[in-house]
Amino acid sequence: MKIAFIDQKRDPAPWREVLTAEVPGLDFRVWPDEVDDPAAIDIAVVALPPPGLLKTFPNLKAILSMWAGVESMLLDPDLPRNVPIGRLVDRAMTRDMTHHMVHWVLHYHRDAYRYAEQQSQGLWKSHPYPEAAQRRVGIMGLGALGGDAARVLTYLGFTVAGWATRPKSIDGVEVFLGSDGLVPFLKRTEILISLLPSTPATEGLFNSATLAHLPKGAFFINAGRGTSVVDDDLIAALDSGAIARASLDVFRTEPLPADDPYWNHPKVDLTPHVASHTTPRTAGREVAEDIRRVAAGKKPRNLVKLDRGY
Ligand code: GLV
Repeated sequence: MKIAFIDQKRDPAPWREVLTAEVPGLDFRVWPDEVDDPAAIDIAVVALPPPGLLKTFPNLKAILSMWAGVESMLLDPDLPRNVPIGRLVDRAMTRDMTHHMVHWVLHYHRDAYRYAEQQSQGLWKSHPYPEAAQRRVGIMGLGALGGDAARVLTYLGFTVAGWATRPKSIDGVEVFLGSDGLVPFLKRTEILISLLPSTPATEGLFNSATLAHLPKGAFFINAGRGTSVVDDDLIAALDSGAIARASLDVFRTEPLPADDPYWNHPKVDLTPHVASHTTPRTAGREVAEDIRRVAAGKKPRNLVKLDRGY
């Protein structure tokens, strides 16, 4: 198998080490310097490939993404549409995302942001908090990431529901489905988590109309994609107190422009797309498993469906 490693930001060295150790005989080529004959490449292992690039490899058997989200690749009008694409699902990455969610849910549930403010004022004042079972967390997107967060938050005692477009079953988690399930799901949700991918269906899903269904003073945690939020509507909901606070890790434009109002908003907890990282040591093993599958004539796992956009 000959692979082209296409990532203009990351150091290929640790990927070369893991992938060549995991797949004996693998011919690992870093694009562009080491790719002399694009027709000889069997698999493209990619992160944010430049538009138009993938079609220049005429004999690809698969494209394997080093990102969980593949939306930028799907926007490429020249994407070879008959080549199977595998999305990255990695247990370590999933756990990192769950840690991010547990952190922010507890931060809001236990008033950490209030105590930080009170400390700066020298104010000794306690706030009652509900039992975890009385706190209703809602997770949108119940794939590998959302499913794990749902299980762990349930284990921690929260009352967790999920929203998805296709039926899912997770012990102890009430699942709301599709457009009919959206309003009842939002109405019962005090801490809303989005792990939704960026697709035409999720574009602007969090807007003044949908956010208005949340109970007053709800919290919003977004580590899915920034495109699902109508930013002006979220800011208006924060300003009015309809939403108490938001933890935002993903944005429409990244890095977030210096003049973006989120930077200085007193009710926004901002992190620079760090909720979960791709780590070659663990993600490399997942990519290697898919390379072995493709070499054996099989499809990669976690196949991207072009019609649903992830
Ligand atoms: C990160 O956001 C990813 O899609 O892997």
